[in-house]
Amino acid sequence: MINVAIDGPVGAGKSTIAKECAKRLGCIYVDTGALYRTVGLYCKRNGIEISQENSGNIENAIKSGLKLEIKLENGTQLVFMNGENVSEEIRLPEVSMLASAVSAIPCVRSFLLDTQRKVAKENNVIMDGRDIGTVILPDAQVKIFITAKPEIRAKRRYDELIAKGIDAKFEDVLNDLNTRDYNDSHRAEAPLKQADDAILLDTSDFDFEQSVCAVINLIEKGN
Ligand code: DC
Repeated sequence: MINVAIDGPVGAGKSTIAKECAKRLGCIYVDTGALYRTVGLYCKRNGIEISQENSGNIENAIKSGLKLEIKLENGTQLVFMNGENVSEEIRLPEVSMLASAVSAIPCVRSFLLDTQRKVAKENNVIMDGRDIGTVILPDAQVKIFITAKPEIRAKRRYDELIAKGIDAKFEDVLNDLNTRDYNDSHRAEAPLKQADDAILLDTSDFDFEQSVCAVINLIEKGN
C-alpha cells in the first residue's frame, strides 16, 4: 500500500491539495480533521465539557455513545455520527475550535487512532492532519509538511467560508487560525510538528495548480 502523510497548520491548503492529488493518482483521500470535528460536535450536542479534567467523562461518552464512520462517495469523504451525515455541519467555524480543544485530550486521540491506521492499511491513501507523519503513519513512504504565511492561509480560509455562504470576518478568521495553530502545536499529546523525515512545502507563492503539481512531484519522487 502507498501511504502519503500530509501535515501542516490551519488553512495551508492541505485538504484541497491532497484531495486533488488523490483524484489524479487514484488514491483515497482521508481528512483526519473531520474526525476531531465530529468528536467536538458530539461533545457540544451532548453538553459534555471539553477539558482535561473532564477527560474521564469524555472517554466514557465517546466509547459508549459515539459510532463514527467514514464513507467515500464519488471520491468525497463523508463522516457519519451515529448514522447521521454531519459532513456539512462539522465545517462550521465554531466546530473548528471544538475540534482543536478535543484534539488535545489524549483519550480522544487514541479513540481515533485505529480508524485512521485501518484505512491506511487497507488502501492507497493520502491522509492529511497534524500528526500523520509523526504518530499515525510513521512509516509512510512520503511525508510532506505543507505551510504558508498566516495572512495568506487566513485569506484562503476566509474566501472558502464566504463561497459557502458562511458569514465571516477576516480578522476573526485570522485570530481563530493563530489560536488554533498555537493550541495544536503546544499541546502535550501529538502536537503539530514537521516529522524529521518530512519535506517542507511552503505554498505562499503558489496557486492551486502549482501546489498540486509540487505535491505530485514529491510523491512520485518519493516512491
Ligand atoms: O484540519 P482541520 O482544521 O479540520 O482540523 C481540526 C482540528 O483537529 C485542528 O485544529 C487540530 C485537530 N487535528 C489534530 O489534532 N490532528 C489531526 N490529525 C487532524 C486534526
